[in-house]
Amino acid sequence: MTQTVSRPTGAQPAPLPLDVEAIRADFPILTRTVRDGKRLVYLDSGATSQKPRQVLDAERWFYENVNAAPHRGAHQLAEEATGAYEAARATIGAFIGAPEREIVFTRNSTEAINLVAYALSNAATAKEEQFRRYAVGQGDEIVVTEMEHHANLVPWQQLCERTGATLRWLGLTDDGRLDLSDLTTVVNERTKLVAVTQQSNILGTINPLGGIVARAREVGALVLVDGAQSVPHQPVDVAALGADFLVFSGHKMLGPTGIGVLWGRYEVLDALPPFLTGGSMIEVVRMEGSTFMPPPQRFEAGVPMTAQAIGLGAAVEYLQGLGMDRVLAHEEALTGYALAALAEIPGVTVVGPPDTVARGGAISFTVEGIHPHDVGQVLDDLGIAVRVGHHCAWPVVRRYGVPATTRATFYVHTGYDDIDALADGIRAAQKFFGTV
Ligand code: ALA
Repeated sequence: MTQTVSRPTGAQPAPLPLDVEAIRADFPILTRTVRDGKRLVYLDSGATSQKPRQVLDAERWFYENVNAAPHRGAHQLAEEATGAYEAARATIGAFIGAPEREIVFTRNSTEAINLVAYALSNAATAKEEQFRRYAVGQGDEIVVTEMEHHANLVPWQQLCERTGATLRWLGLTDDGRLDLSDLTTVVNERTKLVAVTQQSNILGTINPLGGIVARAREVGALVLVDGAQSVPHQPVDVAALGADFLVFSGHKMLGPTGIGVLWGRYEVLDALPPFLTGGSMIEVVRMEGSTFMPPPQRFEAGVPMTAQAIGLGAAVEYLQGLGMDRVLAHEEALTGYALAALAEIPGVTVVGPPDTVARGGAISFTVEGIHPHDVGQVLDDLGIAVRVGHHCAWPVVRRYGVPATTRATFYVHTGYDDIDALADGIRAAQKFFGTV
């Protein structure tokens, strides 16, 4: 299949805030070709991001020079490993405006959310009085939204099943926004926790969290913000957020797989019992029972993901070097350009907000007469990697009455040329399936 490049009609787009060519040179994978020598057009950063050399080097540096288990052992390597691991914690904390003691390393956002969900049910049976403050039980309610990906939905369904609590949710409007018209009834005196995404992985919607946090505060509920799709793409400051928890994944923000973060307000973390138990998280262990360290160690049982934490520290430094304001502006420009390009293709419908207002760089769409998987396959033949399916957010596609969507997601190395390739690829799919 051959591509003819066509830009959206109208004025030439403004120069992008980030120097895409310079950034691409940092990503070794972008030099490879796919599908018989085609340039890799990677539009699947929402699933996982590619890694710059600086992150790969940081992991290699650790394994080649330091490798030891942190917080154990008195030898020099162990001491250096502990120093590097804790330095990464400080760097990552500073990135979201949080002190080190409020940063808990997990495997990913999913594990961070499970940690909170299990801590809340463990609290109900904790023998220590100090851990019972946030116990969830019968009569309590947990509130989510219909916009959540499975990681911020299934753990809460399971918490409700374990404890007898009830799950409630805020719905969606036809244009891809949260429907907050019944906020004050859904979030009420029985609500123990509200879990909400800051940016939808499928619609791209950036949610107005202020009103939700304020309502949760009014009724004394905790708030967990899922930052898996926001922390990589916009400046996030936990003080401004005003929530109790924020979770995010390293692999979606240029970092390694296997490392994620739970940020929690210290006072709240300190009142929670552990989720996973074992080495490193204990104070005193006797055959009769054990006591636990304060946070964050209480939640980091076992030898931690050390190289991965150091790699995530390097990813954060890389993003700080670009400037998160510019990362956000870059993606806003790309999103506007992509929405305009897709609007010019007859039969293409965007599922999600049609403009760039409070909207990030995740664009889901359908193409009339062609199944999303077939669109994905034609794009793949052209070297264009997108995600197809329900994007681990099944209730969202169901809400909009489609079986699946094709989704393009952008990041710091994405340029207008990638979006031109996407638009031309969709036209090629329409031609191939004879829908135009
Ligand atoms: N939640 C990830 C995505 O959106 C896996 O692709």
